[in-house]
Amino acid sequence: MRKINHRKLEHIRICLTEEVEAGSPGFEKVRLAHDALPELDFDEIDTSCEFLGKTLDSPIIIEALTGGADESKEINQDIARVAQKLNVGFSVGSQRAAIEDAALEQTYKVRDVAPDIFLIANLGAVQLNYGLGVAECERAVEMISADAIALHVNPLQELIQAEGNRNFKGLVGKINGVAKKIKSPVILKEVGCGISRETARKLKVSAYDVGGLGGTNWALVEGIRSGRQDTGRVFSTWGIPTVESVIELSGLEKPVIASGGVRSGLDAAKAIALGASCVGIALPVLKAWEEGRTKGVECYLERIVEELKISMFLSGARKIGDLSGKASLN
Ligand SMILES: Cc1cc2nc3c(=O)[nH]c(=O)nc-3n(C[C@H](O)[C@H](O)[C@H](O)COP(=O)(O)O)c2cc1C
Repeated sequence: MRKINHRKLEHIRICLTEEVEAGSPGFEKVRLAHDALPELDFDEIDTSCEFLGKTLDSPIIIEALTGGADESKEINQDIARVAQKLNVGFSVGSQRAAIEDAALEQTYKVRDVAPDIFLIANLGAVQLNYGLGVAECERAVEMISADAIALHVNPLQELIQAEGNRNFKGLVGKINGVAKKIKSPVILKEVGCGISRETARKLKVSAYDVGGLGGTNWALVEGIRSGRQDTGRVFSTWGIPTVESVIELSGLEKPVIASGGVRSGLDAAKAIALGASCVGIALPVLKAWEEGRTKGVECYLERIVEELKISMFLSGARKIGDLSGKASLN
């Protein structure tokens, strides 16, 4: 088996069998305004939203998990089916393996089961320093008929990973070059350490996915993989918690996905009240898939949507937009 595919399967195995979450995303510090008399009928609560030109029934993106191996195909297809049923967004995992070996493309393709979803392609931004360019980003989008591409940045993960790519020089210019030339929207995504306002302002992308501290922790995951658990643990608290990153990026007038430790519909309501357009969830969806395949994922996401609706009702928000301004910090 190729090295990348093996690594992706190891990530799944470690995430499903070890404790890989660390820190707090910060939702416990956020309170939503309580309305004892909401003047609403619960059945009229509307969780639909617009994201990069598409309407979602709920402001949820199932974040990148996998691709490149037979098991990945089953996971991507099962999860995409649920995304289609609930009309929420979905991202495939890094497509680098399929860029290097076209035989693996089918492990990412989901349009046969999810023709209408907001679908996000995925590549590591650091690969722009290791031979990939605009053409490969276009290729990733076309390969799966995606609506957008997420370029993920993960400097901490690359440093803890034994085989990580460590040259991040010149990436801002290269990411902006891709965003300018490619036809689809580019989402700049962190993977567990958050994005600061200062970093975000350098980028000419269409949206940000904060990938903040407090959820799946890649210092821990790669520490376990590379046998460097101690160093992994040292850096497991490094980064900007999800809530802080969302606050930093709100006001930049670009859509923000709040991800990293979003674990309930109440977390989702808080993130949106703080300025996020959507939330992104990865690890709990993988766990729900392991437990119950499509049914497990569907039940989990239905729970999240129900909790989001309860939060909206209790704070007097009939529509997603009504949540704006309803959050305060403890
Ligand atoms: C098993 C696993 C594999 C992942 N693979 C990718 C990937 O290929 N590309 C990517 O951008 N993010 C990847 N991620 C990161 C997630 O998309 C997400 O940003 C991160 O886990 C934070 O969300 P969470 O706390 O809800 O898990 C992966 C996450 C998990 C759990």
